[in-house]
Amino acid sequence: MVTNVVFLQPQIRSMKKLIAPSLLSADFANLQRDIEMINKSEADWFHVDVMDGVFVPNISFGMPVIKAMSKHAQKPLDVHLMIVEPDKYIKEFKACGAEILTVHYEACTHLHRTLQAIKAEGMKAGVALNPHTPVSLLTDVLAEVDLVLIMSVNPGFGGQRFIENTFHKIQQLVDMRKHAAADFLIEVDGGVNETNAHRLFMAGVDVLVAGNYVFGSDNPAATIQSMKKL
Ligand code: DX5
Ligand code: ZN
Repeated sequence: MVTNVVFLQPQIRSMKKLIAPSLLSADFANLQRDIEMINKSEADWFHVDVMDGVFVPNISFGMPVIKAMSKHAQKPLDVHLMIVEPDKYIKEFKACGAEILTVHYEACTHLHRTLQAIKAEGMKAGVALNPHTPVSLLTDVLAEVDLVLIMSVNPGFGGQRFIENTFHKIQQLVDMRKHAAADFLIEVDGGVNETNAHRLFMAGVDVLVAGNYVFGSDNPAATIQSMKKL
């Protein structure tokens, strides 16, 4: 079972520092074990990466696996769709336990409609941007989004190197959020580790996704704990 997603007030949001370990880097043969480890850890969400082999050059997992994950997960499922035509599957992702559903800007012809459809299902609506996509393109949907996910690697694989230009985009997005008096969360995904996590929080990021850094460490729960202390 999952708990309610708590979206914090803007003035205290950046102090919260949410951690969302990416299950893409979990041991798929021991998913229940890894999910229970996250349940007991100080992590805040489960980050769940769905890849279709079309929008990105990789295929991960789909609804049956997410449904199985949700049976054991005691924290919100933050589902990141790296798929074309996400509108087709919004109800299905709700049914398999997604609380936050993030679609890619580059995959949505009618993004405003897609965000409305996600919220109509009772989920929080997120939009993700590839490294080449300017944050300014979100200006006219900022009032509709609960979360903006800035990709800090090209999506498709875990364990890639962080792209430094991400900091420039975060600064722009923080400014846009302030000027629009909006209250969406800013999430960064890809290549997050001990060399950039603190700087990312200081730059105004609310949620850090970490796959390889958490699951590739000797003690994932301790790694999560160290990120919460940043
Ligand atoms: C990449 C995924 C990420 C991935 C991050 O396309 O969206 O969520 O799991 O993995 P790391 O933290 O290893 O870069
Ligand atoms: Zn992701």
